[in-house]
Amino acid sequence: MSVSVLNQLTSAFEKAFADLGFPPEFGSVRESDRPDLAPFQCNGAMAAAGFLKKQGEKANPRDIAAKIAEAVSGSDLIAGTEIAGPGFINIIPGESIVAKRANELRADDRSGAVLTAPKTIVIDYGGANVAKPMHVGHLRSAVIGEALKRLMRFRGHKVIGDVHLGDWGLQMGHLISELEDEQPGLVYFDAKITDGYPSDSPVTMDDMARMYPAASAKAKSDEARMKRSQTATAELQSGRPGYRALLDHFISVSIAYLKKGYGDLGVTFDLWKGEASVDPLIPDMIEAMKAKGITEDSDGALIIRVDENYDSEKRKGLPPVMLKSSAGAVLYHTTDLATLIDRKNEIDPDLILYVVDQRQAAHFKQVFKAAEMAGWYDPEQLEHLGFGTVNGKDGKPFKTRDGDALRLSDLTKMMRDAAKERLVKQDIGQDYPRDEQEDIADKVGMAALKFADLQNQRLTDYTFDAERFTAFEGKTGPYLLYAAVRIKSILRRAAEKGVQPGTIMVTDKAETQLLLALDAFDRAVSLAADKRAPHILCEHVFRLAQSFSRFYTDCPILKDDVPEDIKASRLSFAQLTLTQLELGLDILGISVPERM
Ligand code: ARG
Repeated sequence: MSVSVLNQLTSAFEKAFADLGFPPEFGSVRESDRPDLAPFQCNGAMAAAGFLKKQGEKANPRDIAAKIAEAVSGSDLIAGTEIAGPGFINIIPGESIVAKRANELRADDRSGAVLTAPKTIVIDYGGANVAKPMHVGHLRSAVIGEALKRLMRFRGHKVIGDVHLGDWGLQMGHLISELEDEQPGLVYFDAKITDGYPSDSPVTMDDMARMYPAASAKAKSDEARMKRSQTATAELQSGRPGYRALLDHFISVSIAYLKKGYGDLGVTFDLWKGEASVDPLIPDMIEAMKAKGITEDSDGALIIRVDENYDSEKRKGLPPVMLKSSAGAVLYHTTDLATLIDRKNEIDPDLILYVVDQRQAAHFKQVFKAAEMAGWYDPEQLEHLGFGTVNGKDGKPFKTRDGDALRLSDLTKMMRDAAKERLVKQDIGQDYPRDEQEDIADKVGMAALKFADLQNQRLTDYTFDAERFTAFEGKTGPYLLYAAVRIKSILRRAAEKGVQPGTIMVTDKAETQLLLALDAFDRAVSLAADKRAPHILCEHVFRLAQSFSRFYTDCPILKDDVPEDIKASRLSFAQLTLTQLELGLDILGISVPERM
């Protein structure tokens, strides 16, 4: 198996330290803080000096560094070393090794990214609610969850994405009672009828989007109205056939709508399960938890104490899990626990990742703890991956001018419009056919939105700014698309001129720095996966695009005075860069147009 230049250097330095009687891990090599001096450095000499001092021996880190540098020199691997400061070893890799590695990457359709031991992973993301329009609050879960799903798949895992719809709470009761007010004659409300319901839904998505807030507002000021919604919820949950039939309509109308909304973002799910789909598992689950002795009756409600240090007065610690309210209703905790049973039965995953707003952190702590107490899962199998909010320029959660949550469809439209405007302003692709212009604007808008989201550390909030996101300069999605498209155009021109890519040779520093940027792909992919941090991959693709641009400035490819073998070599560099850029962007859920 092929090994990155950095890992080859690490092996050589580890051996050198071990030969001098030091722990080999002192030989760890990393990317340099001063790439202008040398691309890599090893800082183990300081640790080695400390190691000797502890044993009562005198030691000078610069002397140790000199010995190590001496030991590693003389191979193809290292062109030169230099000792800096108190004992840093700066390392310049040998050109032949760099070229060899470049040719290995070129032959590898994974661009150097190795596969890992496969696990079965469920990613719970999306989390949209039935009967409610998608809004800006659903953006991050969809974008981050999709990227993590693709990243984990790329690593070699078996990944199942589940949207986990919210479809089992009071909102369903609101909708049912509101529908009864509007159309009392519908068969669903006749308790004597128990089957043979119409296959067409009595409501559209727009109806539901209007009815739910109306009912909820009425219920806030009208106790009797609230009671009716609660009763409808309880009857639905205890299986009243007409209400179940209505719920099925609500769910299928919503799924059709949601598939379109998520589809616009390029987000897809393997499972469209939800809270309602695990309801049949709840009675047995509760019995099993009772039998385990972990439940408790608390003023008529059924709870699980998950934190012995919980103090409600001092608001300290984690409140108990609520399995059943005193009115007998099941709650968000209950459905999430039943979902864990369902996933165990159907999938038996090694790991479940929940990509859900950080404001639900306590909820997941409670659920995970209860699942652990029940003996179903180990703590390391369940992870909540929270994220921060999308803010407006006022620093508050992004809203419309009227103060409503912005609809996701309006937000994606804003991005497409901003992209279109930008393309006109910069005169990009304005002479292309209309359809193609639309397609490019779509890709630029989505790349802008997704990259702006994913490049942040997950937990930080960020400010929505369509203008800044769609800029072609700076660390943006459009910059990356432009970089990729530029390479595509170089490859097209080469093909027209009959220049074929060939064996890579290293003739210039700019080629070395490009290869070393390419060679960091596996590290970025594995680190991003281990830390569940797409921003690490964003950083990588951005650096790669910058490295290519430096390379292309210093190393012309198709100019007439470039020798044929160097043309072929540099063309391979271009192709390799494009392959890796597209792989990386594809993991981030970003697709590249053919030209711009
Ligand atoms: N529907 C929930 C909400 O809107 C999010 C669901 C997240 N996933 C989960 N398994 N709880 O807040």
